[in-house]
Amino acid sequence: IDGIPEGGCIVIKWRGKPVFIKKRTEEELNDINAVDWKSLRDPQTDKARRIKEEVLVVLGVCTHLGCVPISNAGDFKGGWFCPCHGSHYDASARIRKGPAPENLEIPPYSFLEGDSKLLIG
Ligand code: FES
Repeated sequence: IDGIPEGGCIVIKWRGKPVFIKKRTEEELNDINAVDWKSLRDPQTDKARRIKEEVLVVLGVCTHLGCVPISNAGDFKGGWFCPCHGSHYDASARIRKGPAPENLEIPPYSFLEGDSKLLIG
């Protein structure tokens, strides 16, 4: 994951599903931490959704009807937008607007080799 630029997001495939790996910027982190998480549709802190603050790992499957959202798009900086029916996720991949009922799912993962590599699963 060393090659992912700050603010960038790559997509890999795991068990036939896309996985987004995103390096978040300080500005994106400030935005998501400024939100009252208890007011969200699927209330979760960002801390509960990642191991390292700057790296977010989520399944790229919209929780509405399963489409693949677009990275770095939508109404929330550094988030995702699913154009199928207009779901907007923030940079913590929490649902913020639109019909999706839940946040994007977090797969099991761990860091390897001094945090330069990720093991999904
Ligand atoms: Fe994503 Fe409907 S599948 S908004």
